[in-house]
Formats: sequence, C-alpha cells, structure tokens
Amino acid sequence: MKKVFVQTFGCQMNEADSEEMLSALMARGYMPAASLREADAVLINTCTVRDHAEHRALSYIGRLAKWKSNCKTRNRIVIVAGCAAQRLGRKLTQQFPHVDIVAGAKLISSFPELLDNAGLKRDGDAPGATAPLCAYVTIMRGCNCDCAYCIVPSVRGPAVFRDPQEIYDEAAAKTAAGAKEIILLGQTVNSYRHPDCKDFAALLALLHGIPGLARLRFMSPHPLFVTPGLVEAYASLPKLAHHIHLPVQSGSDRILTLMKRGYTRAKFLQIAQALRRVVPAIAISTDFIVGFPTETGADFEQSLSLVDEAGISAAYCFKYSPRQGTQSCAMEGELSRQEMEGRLGRLLERTRASARRQMEAFAGRTVEVLMENQRSGRTSENFWVGLQGAAPGDFIKAKVTAIKDRTLEAVIAPEVN
Ligand code: 5AD
Ligand code: SF4
Repeated sequence: MKKVFVQTFGCQMNEADSEEMLSALMARGYMPAASLREADAVLINTCTVRDHAEHRALSYIGRLAKWKSNCKTRNRIVIVAGCAAQRLGRKLTQQFPHVDIVAGAKLISSFPELLDNAGLKRDGDAPGATAPLCAYVTIMRGCNCDCAYCIVPSVRGPAVFRDPQEIYDEAAAKTAAGAKEIILLGQTVNSYRHPDCKDFAALLALLHGIPGLARLRFMSPHPLFVTPGLVEAYASLPKLAHHIHLPVQSGSDRILTLMKRGYTRAKFLQIAQALRRVVPAIAISTDFIVGFPTETGADFEQSLSLVDEAGISAAYCFKYSPRQGTQSCAMEGELSRQEMEGRLGRLLERTRASARRQMEAFAGRTVEVLMENQRSGRTSENFWVGLQGAAPGDFIKAKVTAIKDRTLEAVIAPEVN
C-alpha cells in the first residue's frame, strides 16, 4: 500500500484542512506514513501569515528535492497546499520543479478533483476513520475583515459559511467515531451566520445537543462579533468550555485604529468583564502583535497593562511581519529588530506571570478534565493537567494539588466522580 506523509505548518485551520486532504488521499489508496523515509507521497500544508512561517515551509519543500531524487525504486510525489501555495501560485513550481501538485488554500474544496486530474483516481472510500479525542470541525472559511497587517483575506478569500446541517452531521459523526471534544474552527468563527441558523450562538446551541459530546470549543473569535447572545451561551450551555481565545493584537487604541481592528481597548475589557460575570473563572487567552509600524514605548506599555487588566491566561505573541500587498506593508515607522525583540521578550514575561496567577487561582479547586493520554489532559479552561489513574478519553473531576511550570497537578476527586 502507498503511504503519504503529512507536514502541516501554521494554524488549526491548516491542521483541519490537512485532515480533510489526507482523507481524499486515503480514498485513493494512501495510508498515513509515520516518516518521510517510508512515504511515497508528501503533503505539505503551508502558512504565509508571517514571513518566518512561509520561510520554514519553503525550506522544507526545498529539502524534498533530494528526498524525491534519492529514491530510485518508485516515483515519489510532492503535493504543496495551503496559504503560501495560494500566495505564490506558479512561482512555487518555478522555484521548486520537483513539486508535482499545487493546491492553494482557496482550492481546498476541489482538492479531490485536483488529485483526479493529476492521475490519482479515487478507488474507494477512506477507511472508516476513528476520530481523535479532540476533533476539529471547520464551520467557515475565509475572512471579511480588513486588518491592515493581515494577508489572510487575500489568500483565503471572503468568508464562506457552511450549512449548519452539514456542520452538525460532521460533528456528530466525529463524536460517534470517538471524539469527546469538538473544536469549531474559522478565521472569525463567531461571525458565523447562515439562512438556516441565525448566528454563532444559535449554532453552538444546535451542536450542544449532539449525543455523547462532552465538550465544545471554538477558535478564533473576533471581539467585534462577540454578541450578548454569545456571552449568554456560556451560561446556558454547560458543555461549552470555560475558555475563549480572543485575539486582541494590541492594548493601544491608536494602534488598534491603525490595524483597523474595529474595537477599542475599553471594548475588549468590557467583553472580558461580561464573560466573567457569567463564568467567573473563565480563561481568556489572546494573540498580540508587537512592533506594528509606529508603535511607541507608550503604545507597547498599553499592551503590557492589558495582560494584567484582562487577566490573560495565555498569549501567542508575534513580532510584526510586513506581508506584501497588505495595507501596513508600506507604512512608515518600522521598528528595528532589536526593539521588536526587546518588546517581545517583555510581553512574553508579562503573559507568563499572568498565566501563572490564573493557574494559581485553581489551587485546591475541583476542575473538569478530559484526559488526552495516560498521564495528562486539559481542563475546561484549557490548562494542561497532570493526573494519574485515568485513561485517555475519561472525562473526570479532579482536585488541583499544585502548579508546576505550565501544568496543574491534580488527583482524582473521589467525592464528585
Ligand atoms: N505579523 C505578525 N503577526 C501576524 N498575525 C497575523 N498577521 C500578522 C503579521 N503580518 C498574527 C495575529 C493573528 C495570528 C493568527 O497571527 O496575531 O491573530
Ligand atoms: Fe486576518 Fe483580521 Fe481576518 Fe483575523 S480577522 S484573519 S487578523 S483579517
């Protein structure tokens, strides 16, 4: 049997797209390969959101020339998909003639036909898959926002929302195949709307009813689309995880305006407050960009203080990366590398301290853990927990005994299980 090795760069959307493409390849007789060495084909799902991410993917593709030519016994295939493939188009095969198939991010739905055209014909159904314990379900693709720094709308196109019944069926099938947690994905996941489903909160309520589902998460929402209905969902839907990953990008109103994010610092803090009124222990994680053009020391201080004011539980912090074709690419006021690195270091330190405080608040408390392997699982708030005596897939209550590095240590709480 032929084997395909999948290498994914970038976000959870890419992870989910890779799964979908793998399943089209499995319907064509491929099995997943554990390493490149044993593979007959390789699927590289690329990211272009920052220059660094694109570079990593491209240098990986470059190294595959040898992998392909070194094998004399069979004809190895290189498939490049995703956002960098979309951005570079034909330039990709010009630079890397060993690439056989290019499937840009906008082409994901026609990936099977692309394979057919390349001579990889469907020869059955993908073998009945068992779903991972935490399974992704993409509910929308693309983005209608216009953030000044972001290349996503140009590589993924405008927002397209999936049919709610189709979403339900996929989530229910994954739950029936073993998933305990469903993670809804979309670039602005909470902007979801559809003629057959009023809004994102209504979709959450619909999916909440899936039999056997233990937990529901989503990412990434945009502050602009956090409605009172979504806040209310945290009160009315017990399976909704007590966590929101809500990218803020900056704590400075001046920078937020330049970024065209459409909200203010005060609005973000109001959302955090509203969520905490409903779920006092909700974990709020975020994304920051440091060193957006013209960012002053005072602007940056506003990002630092927002970490504390919003009680951030975790943050992905990125150095600003100018992307060709975006509005901020040509903006003056670029910061030096040194300045950016200095600020990134300070922000990471601040978010680490904040995460620690958020975790310490759980000491002695009972948390709900979904075990993801023999020794650890995640709480509803998305904290990792070290726990003995439970099996993968167990959904149990545990008492937090200590905080170690970035995990909570816990013991099974017999009185509540
Ligand atoms: N530079 C740095 N970070 C970026 N992001 C998006 N575009 C850029 C860019 N040009 C970050 C944002 C977003 C995350 C997915 O990537 O923080 O939320
Ligand atoms: Fe990019 Fe902004 Fe859309 Fe997020 S909301 S994908 S940052 S344009």
